[in-house]
Amino acid sequence: MGDNRRMPHAAERPPFIDALPLDRVEAEWLVLPVFDGDDFADLPGLDAATGGEILRASSRREITGKPFELFVTPVTAGWRARRLALVGAGPRAEFGADLARRIATTGVLAARQRRVDHVAVALRGGELPAASPERLAQSAAEGVVLGQVETGRHKNGVPELVRLTDVRLATNGRSEATLTTAIEQGRVLAERTNFARDLANEPANVLTPNVMAERARAAAASAGLAVEVLDEERIEALGMGLLLGVARGSAEPPRVLVLRHDPAGAPESPVLGLVGKGITFDTGGISIKPADGMDRMKADMAGGAAVIAAMLAIADLRAPTRVVAVVPMTENMPGGRAVKPGDVLRGASGKTVEVLNTDAEGRLILGDGLWYAQQLGATHLVDVATLTGACVVALGKLNTGLFGRPDEFVSAARGLGAVTGDRLWPMPSTDDYFEALKSDVADMTNTGGRPGGAVTAAVFLKQFAGELPWLHLDVAGTAWTDDAKPWQVRGATGAVTRLLAELALQPEAWTKAR
Ligand code: BES
Ligand code: MN
Ligand code: ZN
Repeated sequence: MGDNRRMPHAAERPPFIDALPLDRVEAEWLVLPVFDGDDFADLPGLDAATGGEILRASSRREITGKPFELFVTPVTAGWRARRLALVGAGPRAEFGADLARRIATTGVLAARQRRVDHVAVALRGGELPAASPERLAQSAAEGVVLGQVETGRHKNGVPELVRLTDVRLATNGRSEATLTTAIEQGRVLAERTNFARDLANEPANVLTPNVMAERARAAAASAGLAVEVLDEERIEALGMGLLLGVARGSAEPPRVLVLRHDPAGAPESPVLGLVGKGITFDTGGISIKPADGMDRMKADMAGGAAVIAAMLAIADLRAPTRVVAVVPMTENMPGGRAVKPGDVLRGASGKTVEVLNTDAEGRLILGDGLWYAQQLGATHLVDVATLTGACVVALGKLNTGLFGRPDEFVSAARGLGAVTGDRLWPMPSTDDYFEALKSDVADMTNTGGRPGGAVTAAVFLKQFAGELPWLHLDVAGTAWTDDAKPWQVRGATGAVTRLLAELALQPEAWTKAR
């Protein structure tokens, strides 16, 4: 692990790593993880710097180290920071990458709520066996940056969460190359995760297929990716009738974004093919959705956003693997020209689909997307989509549905997800489920009914993956959250962005899967 890692471009980055001893770190707000039963032995002078406030609060059990508990106290002498924000980190023995990430975010969000904009987050726990110091440092860096996610972009007046002017990760005197590389890597992965979140949070009248394609084009070009945006004419010439069928009801023309990462000297194969669902708004079409909560469907392009953002991170971090990304983008609207239940569409692969429910549109556009990724030379396919409500019913909002073949590819992804903070849970996609998709008039229908709805959707996609190793990530439950948490704002989460990037950074984890 870790052998492919290189330092990202350092161009125009303000200092992010602060290697001063903690007592000399300048900040309005210095975040310190605090463990259950913490004696602060590694931080001599800490208690004195607060006039004894920390030990006093610990003995009164105002500080317990319970995860995400916040205790804020001013510095009265000795340390350079103005205030210390102690964030509970649980028992030392259980401290790992996930908690390190969330605790850093908690400290940053708490500062932003209080309009404090000069923040440092201290690393602690690097001596623990649960994770390597590099892994903990990378996760903490990710957490710091995830805490800077943009909110209220379209609001006037004073923001609820102030934008940080200066934010640092304080390493308490450590500056080994492996540590600083890990931190920079975490920073890039989280910045790109925030890019995915920004796209998914954007209202659908702003983020049309064309605008999504152009924002991706601009970011990708400056990251050094090869970019192509296919317009209606090209899409038609390629015969992508599934995408065109979904797009028929919309006044906005569809697009297909194609991104390529071809590192110099990389072997011809593998070629990782990432395919993301880019429905910029899903009304359901003629099979229209109920009004309640339909606004959420502005984020039905979150899979596509994760793919785009991961490609940016892949370029930034100079992943050693060839990667091609395909993001079909359209609205799903009702209208006089819209696709109707019973219509038959022919995709670019030649397969025909009887559309029984126009709200099962994601699998249609992904069918053409998966086909195109193969045309472009993908040897391994990974698609990401807010695909089914059924997946949310099955797994709730904590795990992304994980489907695919062979098992080794599936478990490799699962293992990487455990590290990146993207929890995945394996689900079946065996061919016997195809029964539910049998059509009297076409090669398949686009819905398998309510039973196993997430599984039959996956099996639909499988028809378009040829014989290749293939993963399908259903992020319907994980791409968005309505529950604010100390470590999480409401809105798009950027789910699986870091996982997708990690696949390209660590091809050795899955190339045996063939
Ligand atoms: N975009 C939705 C799935 C979705 C639901 C995402 C909730 C996020 C939260 C998808 O296009 C859809 O409408 N799926 C249908 C499929 C059904 C008609 C077979 C669904 O899940 O109801
Ligand atoms: Mn739908
Ligand atoms: Zn949808």
